[in-house]
Amino acid sequence: MSAGMDAGVVIVGAGQAGGRVALMLAQRGYPGPVTLIGAESLPPYERPPLSKEMLADPQHPLPVLVPAEEYGRLGIALHLGRRVTAIDRARQLVTMDDGASLPYGRLVLATGGRPRQLPFRLERLQVLRTAGDVRAIAARAEKATSVLVVGGGVIGLEVAATLRKRGLAVTVVEVGSRLLGRNFPEPVAAAIAERHVAEGVVLRTGVRVRAVSEDGGGLHATLSDGTTITADFAVVGIGITPDTGLAQDCGLVTDDGVVVDADMRSSDPAILAVGDMAAIPGQDGRPMRCETWQNANVTAERAVATILGEAAPPGEASWFWTDQYDLNVQLTGNTMGGTGNCLLLEQRSAVAGGRLFLMLEGDRLVGAAAINAGRDMSLCRRLIAAGVRLPAAMPEAAQFDARAARTLLTPSPASARPVDA
Ligand code: APR
Repeated sequence: MSAGMDAGVVIVGAGQAGGRVALMLAQRGYPGPVTLIGAESLPPYERPPLSKEMLADPQHPLPVLVPAEEYGRLGIALHLGRRVTAIDRARQLVTMDDGASLPYGRLVLATGGRPRQLPFRLERLQVLRTAGDVRAIAARAEKATSVLVVGGGVIGLEVAATLRKRGLAVTVVEVGSRLLGRNFPEPVAAAIAERHVAEGVVLRTGVRVRAVSEDGGGLHATLSDGTTITADFAVVGIGITPDTGLAQDCGLVTDDGVVVDADMRSSDPAILAVGDMAAIPGQDGRPMRCETWQNANVTAERAVATILGEAAPPGEASWFWTDQYDLNVQLTGNTMGGTGNCLLLEQRSAVAGGRLFLMLEGDRLVGAAAINAGRDMSLCRRLIAAGVRLPAAMPEAAQFDARAARTLLTPSPASARPVDA
């Protein structure tokens, strides 16, 4: 039994990453107490459906990881509607907002992030982060005919697509010179932009919101080019700020997020961090946060392996997706280049109508983006993780060679043979 196991594991933050840590510990037979504390009154749920299915249909069930009763059945103490207010590292104790204290052997921080806000507090200005936010936006949309979306990132554009499909007139304002500038290659963002325009969405790039007011007639946003947009309400999707307050207050090293090693250990080895707020070592070793569904699962799995004293699970290429109208767009690995040696090229997909963008560094695939070509994407993810060299014919072809990819990924009989055979 490792040190501190008697006091068990306390997890702060009952989102996807925190919930997964608790469930995996219980399911894998962790012998100590497991406590999961979350500020929201809802059990852990996944966020991807919020801006899509749930916003389209408020009756859509909450995408919980498991039903709330399951936590008790697994022996997990679930405290909902509770906040941890302080961490005492010397005594290995957390204090909650009801004054109660809990000892920990290992503490897992999974507090995620808060949506960035515009510097205006108005009733008609909404953010989208929680299920509660989605219900509020859906209720407004019910009575509205127009919406202003601030931020042309994934959240803003998914909201734009969903509300456009519900019949609202939609204007998107993006401060960057193009949509999705943080993490989508230009031609992929252009294809998405084209689709929004075809659906009748008005896209305004290179402008910021200077001032906002509201009255009985709606919300009025004055933009940096002097124009004004009036809409019934606005949804702001301009990124998140990691929730590192508790970590900073107790003196953990932070750099945007809580800095952790590959085993999710922070600068205090008794405290781990997972999910959106964990700054994990990137390719170049520098701490990097990653705000994806996959990262919540991967970091949770790594933290659980560390707590159980097991080997870390094998690495995988980063991956995320967005659904807008009938476009399913998936990205994996490094899709933004970043070194002079990277080259982005487009191929037709083996999937009819699909488009594939490959980021090559020399003869290796380092990233890929797929538009309606999910099947090719899973091969690309595996090619990136394996780091295999591609034969020259593969990137030169007009169409992605799925068969060649499968062959490259199939271990040869020689390498499959056990070492001692
Ligand atoms: N006005 C207009 N646009 C702005 C402003 C502003 N004041 N500030 C930022 N933006 C733009 C950015 O240029 C960027 O294109 O908002 C966009 C925000 O995009 P993201 O950073 O991707 O954040 P968001 O879409 O809010 O997603 C937040 O939810 O689904 C997850 O992966 C997503 O974890 C991310 C989180």
